[in-house]
Amino acid sequence: MSRPISKAIQYSLLTFFLASTSTAAEPANLAAGRLAYAACSACHLPSGEGVPLAFPPIRNRLPAIAASSAGRDYLITLVLKGISGPMKVDGTAYNGYMQGYEAVLQDDAISAVLNYIAIELNDKPSPAFTPFDAKEVARVRAGLKSSLSAMAKREALGLE
Ligand code: HEC
Repeated sequence: MSRPISKAIQYSLLTFFLASTSTAAEPANLAAGRLAYAACSACHLPSGEGVPLAFPPIRNRLPAIAASSAGRDYLITLVLKGISGPMKVDGTAYNGYMQGYEAVLQDDAISAVLNYIAIELNDKPSPAFTPFDAKEVARVRAGLKSSLSAMAKREALGLE
């Protein structure tokens, strides 16, 4: 393979990358979030409605949880570290296991997937949702060693 060709490929990949990450019109990065959601949809389903008694629904829930900083911290921790043990979601009891994605998903993919769920898998007009960004995920990731588990954070929120 001659060098000029590989340089040309590198250049076009770079310009594609720059163009696709700097779209100010889409701060929530929904396209990346839709891709990352492939890691979640086997259990929570493409609609986010989940499977009663096995996988809890995540549709229509995230904006309310993400309205407080403790709730945002919980959501990020849960995706990084996973969660297991008894919980109630919309009044239904679950006692399952979800793996963590800290080794699989980068900060920007985690913020994008949470934004995708909160915006695209949501039919409720309120509350208003402030998108996550990679910096917010990085802050939570940096504090994980000394912070509570996702379940302890969930219990503190009193979610049902
Ligand atoms: C293998 C199945 C599986 C996959 C894949 C999975 N989850 Fe889960 N998820 C669960 C289970 C089971 C629970 C409940 C755990 C429990 O009972 O403690 C859960 C809980 C949750 C909750 C908590 C809801 C609440 O009300 O507190 C959220 C949010 C969530 N998952 C998001 C995600 C996201 C985002 C992904 C992809 C990055 C994902 N899940 C991938 C099975 C899965």
